[in-house]
Amino acid sequence: MAAGGDSTVLKVRGLRVEIASAAGVIHPVDDISLDLRAGETLGLVGESGSGKSMTGLALLRLLPRPAARIVAGRIELDGTDLVPLSEGAMRRIRGRRIAMILQDPQASLNPAFTIGNQLFEALRAGDRSPRQGLRARAAGLLRLLGLPAPEERLQAYPHQLSGGMRQRVVGAIALASDPQVIVADEPTTALDLTIQAQYLALLEDIQKRTGVAILFITHDFGVVARLCHRVAVMYAGRIVEQGDVRDIFDRPSHPYTAALIRSVPSLTARAARLPAIAGQPPPLSALPAGCSFAPRCAHAQPRCLAQAPPELPGRGGAENRHVARCWRLEDPSWTPD
Ligand SMILES: Nc1ncnc2c1ncn2[C@@H]1O[C@H](COP(=O)(O)OP(=O)(O)OP(=O)(O)O)[C@@H](O)[C@H]1O
Ligand code: SF4
Ligand SMILES: [Mg+2]
Repeated sequence: MAAGGDSTVLKVRGLRVEIASAAGVIHPVDDISLDLRAGETLGLVGESGSGKSMTGLALLRLLPRPAARIVAGRIELDGTDLVPLSEGAMRRIRGRRIAMILQDPQASLNPAFTIGNQLFEALRAGDRSPRQGLRARAAGLLRLLGLPAPEERLQAYPHQLSGGMRQRVVGAIALASDPQVIVADEPTTALDLTIQAQYLALLEDIQKRTGVAILFITHDFGVVARLCHRVAVMYAGRIVEQGDVRDIFDRPSHPYTAALIRSVPSLTARAARLPAIAGQPPPLSALPAGCSFAPRCAHAQPRCLAQAPPELPGRGGAENRHVARCWRLEDPSWTPD
């Protein structure tokens, strides 16, 4: 299925995660709303600690326990809200209708079992008519992920493969049950640049063939430009801007997004002359009143320090689902450039 139309497969509304940490109660995911359509890749970007991984884990109900829990919001996968589901019901959905690819393939693969065994298990779990042609389908998946000599790889153990190959195997396992949504948390960060480019091209190709929707978590705007249809920018647990890739790059509407884009050398010729964003994100245990970005924002006004900004239409227009949380957008002639 192509992106667009009425094909929303994942609809997240007002999602809030609470962690009881030593520094007090924090909300690494705070009132997050997003839509993901079939065949669409949404990039979730932001600095380290902004809550990207917590968001991804929350969507699969895989938050670290007992410290973290969902305290508000809905996660609708094809119309079913996952938040109130029992763990048993969640197990029937996780890995089948929504799957995850993590940065470290080592953590996702069992060193004691062959690649084949792990793929067979994933295929059986997602299949209504098990057994038939399991081996051929497992080899087919490895071929789809671009592994040479897939039949032989089925007998290999994870340590016998390179990092890039292991990540392809993890991708094959995630795709085994033909999920509607894949959450990929920095899947290429540990790979070298050539392998990374190959992996991204592969994901794109697989998406075209299967229509799987992908939430792609990354801190790399270059990867976003290369792979994603839409982008959500996180800052201190919140999505501060969301829109089509073209709108985000051409008409960034939040000062944080504008600064992030300026600081990526390959995206703008001006980058060389501009400093990266000064200052650090605030600790989640001590967020400032009002807009969390205010202490670093060159556009801040008194109101920003007192009241958190609501979501307003971005410069790409609400009809293009471009929104940002910045008071200054109330003035249609204002730009953060
Ligand atoms: N188990 C935990 N206990 C307490 N706080 C945690 C725990 N795990 C994460 N956090 C906090 O939650 C916040 C969000 O973390 P998260 O891992 O989602 O960030 P991230 O955006 O994925 O960062 P990175 O780019 O480094 O992967 C951070 O401030 C982190 O310190
Ligand atoms: S609301 Fe104010 S402080 Fe926050 S990003 Fe907009 S201008 Fe800056
Ligand atoms: Mg992370």
